[in-house]
Amino acid sequence: MLEEVLTGLQKPQKALSSKFFYDERGSELFEQITRLKEYYLTRTEYKIMQDHIGEITSAIGSESVIVEPGSGSSKKVRLLLDHLPEVSAYIPVEISEEYLTDVVNELRREYPDLLIKPVCADYTKPFQLPEIDKAFEYYVVFYPGSTIGNFRPAEAQDFLKLLSDFMVPGGGLLIGVDLKKDSTILEAAYNDSKGVTAAFNKNMLVRLNRELDADFDLEQFDHQAFYNEKKGRIEMHLVSVQNQTVHISGKSIPFKKGETIHTENSYKYSPDDFKMLVSDWFEVEKIWTDDDDLFSLQYLIKQ
Ligand code: AVJ
Repeated sequence: MLEEVLTGLQKPQKALSSKFFYDERGSELFEQITRLKEYYLTRTEYKIMQDHIGEITSAIGSESVIVEPGSGSSKKVRLLLDHLPEVSAYIPVEISEEYLTDVVNELRREYPDLLIKPVCADYTKPFQLPEIDKAFEYYVVFYPGSTIGNFRPAEAQDFLKLLSDFMVPGGGLLIGVDLKKDSTILEAAYNDSKGVTAAFNKNMLVRLNRELDADFDLEQFDHQAFYNEKKGRIEMHLVSVQNQTVHISGKSIPFKKGETIHTENSYKYSPDDFKMLVSDWFEVEKIWTDDDDLFSLQYLIKQ
């Protein structure tokens, strides 16, 4: 982590990976974000799932194996499992071992007849799927939340290829994709009035102070989030309030007043943009949206 952080902070445009947001406090702050009135994504996706659960589960098929990269609390998948009593297995893939164990224990209590085969892995790198010792139809990957938006398009394609590599033609990908829309709505979602997103962004610095012996002064950095229309993405940055020098494990990092650390991209796609992005590996079978076209849930089929 130290090496990655120092490399990122020595670039002309300083940058830190958004994966560093999610320590314990960061995950808690993200949970709070999902409940904010301005943050429409989580709530809208869940409503789309509820409103179309019959069509969604018939697309998945009753004897599939559901694979969920970055399963976290496995909250959304419960809605699928509740409507797919015959599903062959559920494979949550999660990097935090402690979190994974807790969630799987809970799921086994709630779904005593379900075969659960957890995998502890960083899903952005190639990982091995466990043996399923019974016949099943297809792997169906469940990737909700518009997490795909955190990748640059080329990286998103690397990930789509990685997924398609363990599927046979006919396999599915049920994926949440946030849609392009009026920038006012987008910018409000990442600049909430309670300042939770600002705290989430700054928590990255709190983490570096604690884990990498850094001395960021939280008062000397401001939260910034804006829609970059040309690139079709929300960008989050931390802006240096003044000229200053920060130290990380003994290394000095100078900041000019107004200079930023780029901490996250959240790409937004039109249905056509997304169709193009996936077209080398997947065909878009079905798109479900909400009444205001804020968010989409898409069922893709491997070619
Ligand atoms: C978890 C990647 C879907 O990009 O909207 C929320 C993370 N960042 N507020 C997003 C996030 C700031 C979120 N994703």
